Amino acid sequence: MHPSAHHIDEIRARFPSLSVEDDGRQRIYLDNPAGTQVPVHVIERMTDYFGHANANLGGYFPTSERSEEVVDEAHAAMADFLNAASAEEIVFGQNMTTLTFHVSRSIGRLFSPGDEIIVTRMDHDANIAPWLMLAEDLDLTIRWLDIDTETFELDLEKFEALLSSKTRLLAVGYASNLIGTINDVKRLTALAKSAGALVYVDAVQYAPHGLIDVQDIGCDFLVCSPYKFYGPHLGVLWGRAELLNALTAYKVRAASDVLPEKFETGTLSHESLAGLLGTMDYLAWYGNDGSTSRRQALQAAYDVMRDYENDLAWRLIEGLGAIPSVKIQGIADHNRLMRRVPTVSITSEARTPREMAEHLAAHNIFVWDGHSYALELVRALGLADKGGVLRIGIAHYNTVAEIDRTVKVLDDFLR
Ligand SMILES: Cc1ncc(COP(=O)(O)O)c(C=O)c1O
Repeated sequence: MHPSAHHIDEIRARFPSLSVEDDGRQRIYLDNPAGTQVPVHVIERMTDYFGHANANLGGYFPTSERSEEVVDEAHAAMADFLNAASAEEIVFGQNMTTLTFHVSRSIGRLFSPGDEIIVTRMDHDANIAPWLMLAEDLDLTIRWLDIDTETFELDLEKFEALLSSKTRLLAVGYASNLIGTINDVKRLTALAKSAGALVYVDAVQYAPHGLIDVQDIGCDFLVCSPYKFYGPHLGVLWGRAELLNALTAYKVRAASDVLPEKFETGTLSHESLAGLLGTMDYLAWYGNDGSTSRRQALQAAYDVMRDYENDLAWRLIEGLGAIPSVKIQGIADHNRLMRRVPTVSITSEARTPREMAEHLAAHNIFVWDGHSYALELVRALGLADKGGVLRIGIAHYNTVAEIDRTVKVLDDFLR
């Protein structure tokens, strides 16, 4: 374990925005599921890109050559990050939503009227709406996988009943952005594959908290967003090379037919790719246990992060659970802590989510209220017309003191 695991001050010193004050008041960032703060490594890499390497690709001059290096290095870094078989399987784009709308058009070309797609009622709408619209366009049938509102988990038995020879794709989230549940994507993938379906995994909310291994999961596509894991605003799509090669890309005729360029429409945000390399530098520093490979260092980083975040999550769940009117909308027992990420949502009979969010904001504590685009989930939980939930999302730079303060402010407000 890296000594930094025990030195939260050392970690926080790497994130300039954590020490910013508003009217002399410290900020408490618990809005992390909507986007994390970035370490100085990211800022320096982006500044350096603009200062020394800013150009388009394919030229014979230094800035263009440097830009190509950045783009290539970023693909290689994300291949390590996701354990992809090769860097050509990594496609960058604006964000997860745009990538999913885009590639779903290409995937749809493999389907015929009457084919079925399974979506879940736990997912963020970015892994539902693209498939609903595809189904509308191509006359496909949508099957819904429900959530058990007692356990806050997807029901595997129900899933097996939904599978048939008509199932062509399962779209499922790795971790919920609202209730934090981690889904057993490896098992879901195995079941879907045995029915001959493709599997599209939304790992946007898992990537900040656990190291992803696409080869171990066995899925066909996986998407995540670096701005949720200490990087710039970007989206990443991983797809199996043979599939990506076989798909028709929606692209201009002059663009390359080879991977990954065929899916990277237009000019990428090179400065963001440079920044992403800064994220990898930071994680490698954070996890540096003397490992030789970047993947090993990333594994070490996530191991440390996970233990630390789970301790904070448990402290938060216990603290909130002790406030009489509060209901934790998600897994709240200690022995199932490993089944969730540290995103903790609550409702209260005393106040609406909006009132709680505004009250916390008045104390410079940043949180979100509402449905956070998990429309089906708030409906399933019966919260759609009640303002959704108050969502408190922990990252590894949060402190015990921040958690205690948040609980105290809420406790005072709700009692
Ligand atoms: C689980 C999940 N999926 C998808 C998205 C959409 O990501 P992006 O903003 O990169 O399109 C989000 C954003 O919050 C999310 O939490």
